[in-house]
Amino acid sequence: MQIKHNTSLKTYNTFGINAKASHFCEINSIDTLRAALQLNEYPTKFILSGGSNMLITKDIDALVLHINNKGITVVSEDKDHILLKVNAGENWHQMVQWTIERNYGGLENMSLIPGNTGTAPIQNIGAYGVELKDVFHSCEALEIATQKVRTFTHAACNFNYRDSYFKNEGKGKYVITSVTLKLTKKNHILNTSYGAIEAELAKNNCHNPTIKDVSNAVIAIRKSKLPDPAELGNSGSFFKNPMVSRLKFNTFSEEHPEAPYYKLSEELYKIPAGWLIEQCGFKGKRIGDAGVHKNQALVLVNYGNATGNDILKLANTIIKNVKEKFGIQITPEVNIIK
Ligand code: EPU
Repeated sequence: MQIKHNTSLKTYNTFGINAKASHFCEINSIDTLRAALQLNEYPTKFILSGGSNMLITKDIDALVLHINNKGITVVSEDKDHILLKVNAGENWHQMVQWTIERNYGGLENMSLIPGNTGTAPIQNIGAYGVELKDVFHSCEALEIATQKVRTFTHAACNFNYRDSYFKNEGKGKYVITSVTLKLTKKNHILNTSYGAIEAELAKNNCHNPTIKDVSNAVIAIRKSKLPDPAELGNSGSFFKNPMVSRLKFNTFSEEHPEAPYYKLSEELYKIPAGWLIEQCGFKGKRIGDAGVHKNQALVLVNYGNATGNDILKLANTIIKNVKEKFGIQITPEVNIIK
């Protein structure tokens, strides 16, 4: 195991924040993970995966363990389904493409999401009407306190909108080492009801789409709305879409009948934070090198040399303005490392 010191994390977080790790080590297997966790000379450990859902606001004074174990294996299959065990360090989108090339269905709507597979369950990643929980079978995670690998069933993960056990009771206690997905081999259940997907398929005259067509449509939509982290530092949606009660929603929609919304149940409504932020005049706004993306107000960007605190300051100003204008509290989706 090679330990580097005073290492820049700029290329390890999609915001491109130039923070430093006092110590840094690549983790390619569960054995290396165990060995690294046992290194007493570095009492504080910090788990880093694809770095696509975090905002680093200071140097990290710890041994940073970069989870990078690769590999995809078939656990079992029958004529309809396949169970694939994907190691945590596999890049999510490359893995999605790998499944689509083999005609395994289920992940197409989640094409081009940045990050690695191991962190997908933590916030139950999702896009265009599909969430990880819809294809998730189980995952394995090393319990830091006992060094034992534990299997988490779907129920144990307690998935919710951008939320799971690992963001709550399990926070900081486990390192996810692999994720097992249940995908279809035939009779794929396509989810094309999301307006933008329908429109993209119609534009391409695609009336009987395959999973590859849906994936390509999602890729085109994402490219048109969301900045590529390789070109412009960002962490996808910075905020979660807020959920409000029926009572609050009724007042809100009387004042803003034009606002988009999703009805989740009789009692719960979700309002797109991107719309709220745009209405406050932040879309495309830039303060120094921290900005709000011009095509999607939910996404904060780093034009080059923003610090994590520059981005955080902008985020807090947005939160305050949305609260003042609409009386609605929005909260970050990304992990803020303070
Ligand atoms: N909207 C605006 N202005 C904006 C952005 C959005 O008015 O600047 C409006 C849109 O016109 C639309 C509504 O808000 O009526 C919803 O917008 P969109 O379809 O772009 O989706 P979103 O709710 O903003 C969520 C996810 C995205 C995911 C898309 C598509 C969250 C926090 N974000 O965004 O996820 O790609 O739906 O499913 O739920 C991510 O998590 O990093 C991410 C990109």
